[in-house]
Amino acid sequence: MKVDFLVIGSGLAGLSFALKVAPYGKVCIATKTTLDDTNTRYAQGGIAAVIDSGDSYEKHVLDTLTAGDGLCNEEVVRMVVREAPEQIKQLIDWGTRFDRTGDGAFDLHKEGGHSEFRILHHKDNTGFEIQRALSDMAQRHPNITILENHFAVDVITQHHLGKLVKRYHPDTECYGAYLLDIKNNKTITILAKVTMMATGGTGNLYSTTTNPPIATGDGIAMVYRAKGIIDNLEFVQFHPTSLYNPDEKPSYLITEAMRGFGAVLRTMDGKEFMHKYDIRGSLAPRDIVARAIDHEMKVRGEDHVFLDATQTPHEALKNHFPNIREKCLNLGVDITKDYIPVIPAAHYQCGGIKVDMKGRSSINRLYAAGETTCTGLHGANRLASNSLLEALVYADNAATNALAHFKNYLIPDNIPDWNTEGTAHPEEMVLITQNYKEMQQIMSNYVGIVRSNLRLKRAADRLQIIYDETEALYVKTTLSVKLCELRNMINAGYLVIKSAQARHESIGLHYTIDYPHQKQV
Ligand code: FAD
Ligand code: SIN
Repeated sequence: MKVDFLVIGSGLAGLSFALKVAPYGKVCIATKTTLDDTNTRYAQGGIAAVIDSGDSYEKHVLDTLTAGDGLCNEEVVRMVVREAPEQIKQLIDWGTRFDRTGDGAFDLHKEGGHSEFRILHHKDNTGFEIQRALSDMAQRHPNITILENHFAVDVITQHHLGKLVKRYHPDTECYGAYLLDIKNNKTITILAKVTMMATGGTGNLYSTTTNPPIATGDGIAMVYRAKGIIDNLEFVQFHPTSLYNPDEKPSYLITEAMRGFGAVLRTMDGKEFMHKYDIRGSLAPRDIVARAIDHEMKVRGEDHVFLDATQTPHEALKNHFPNIREKCLNLGVDITKDYIPVIPAAHYQCGGIKVDMKGRSSINRLYAAGETTCTGLHGANRLASNSLLEALVYADNAATNALAHFKNYLIPDNIPDWNTEGTAHPEEMVLITQNYKEMQQIMSNYVGIVRSNLRLKRAADRLQIIYDETEALYVKTTLSVKLCELRNMINAGYLVIKSAQARHESIGLHYTIDYPHQKQV
């Protein structure tokens, strides 16, 4: 198939880019499972934007810079914050509904690190509502073809024309991607003038994550293999409060907005502890809260802490958090009376494919948006509810730039089909599943919330063994999603570790006991 725009991923970043370029050319959206199976669908809290007259761009900028611990790109932060209201309007025009108060104004929530109420939301399932509206629009657009159950294996560059590129080269160009058609078990070639990488995060590097199974860092690994630039992967955000329910995957999120409504954290003996770590208490930025919980659990030898929402007016709990209330009730926890058992879980990847303010990656004609990117907005730690916003703004910037250029792009006519020579079906799936589990254990135990040089070295050594085994299997095995995902996760994990080892300080989400942070736990 030949198209103007190939979009890999059907979350907020991919769909909003597709909807913006579709009036001008032929679009193909490839997604590895179903259209709605995305991190976007799971978003609870909402999307940050300056709406209220008491708020200001300057305050949102400052909150973002403070959370980012000195590593944000201020120009990017200012651009994203300024663009937010306009992009929210676009989301509404596409059919997204946000909660409003009785007088018609937006009902704004507050989350950790925000100095104002500025989170637009739809109950406690904002992402579900956004995904519903955009999926509906995309399915109805005559210029958009949606390929579900199509797994992008690699982007196509000059490398595939036999021009072997060993490291980053500024002339590298992208001509589309090879996709594994999962149902028909064959690999197809999609040629595109412009490719948008919108494959989301890396949560499944860790055994406990709020991310659905699709979040396996595929885009990051594909771009890394194509010699594109990847940045800041050491900044893995752990959400402080996922529901403690050990057998459930993904871990169910208990939104930070509940703490915005006054819920507080307590150790298992019922005592509050956050004031020991930060004057903002339970509403301190996420890195601080997650580290404090991790510390309390380790010192006390306990499996979880509690979130106490019992002092929040019961009507507010019912109206604002109906899904969380019902979920907990099903597990025998009445949030109006009982404390909720919570633990931190891997939640968000702040780093990723490096892009400029126009959403351009370091590979020509390859754009990227959303969680798979490193834009400079989040720095060392993302401010809550800034990621949906980032996906939306960067998809828009990328669309504007791609539309200005795509007509001039030619695609070489000698791009080969995927080569299956010398490969056979894997004899034992356990060779893949065991390595996947080991990779998650290595990352969870050695590259988690608190790190050390010794743990990182052990992680690197062990991951190398799994890498060697997996590459050996890959060259002689026909493609399967499980094998490709394992390979991608190993790539992403390797880059997290290398970036962490290169940073000789504790900053934001990267906390190492070898260089303890001056200000924090
Ligand atoms: P995604 O929505 O994850 O979409 C990625 C897409 O890429 C999927 O369609 C996937 O199938 C596809 N894909 C991946 N690899 C391949 C491949 N190899 N081939 C083909 N397709 C592929 N952020 C906020 O701002 N506010 C919130 O309140 C909030 N709450 C959250 C709650 C939870 C539980 C979680 C998990 C995240 C939350 N986030 C929140 C983060 C936010 O949801 C994500 O960062 C954002 O939705 C990412 O959007 P995206 O389009 O980049 O990626
Ligand atoms: C939450 O609702 O707590 C998640 C918000 C986010 O990840 O931005």
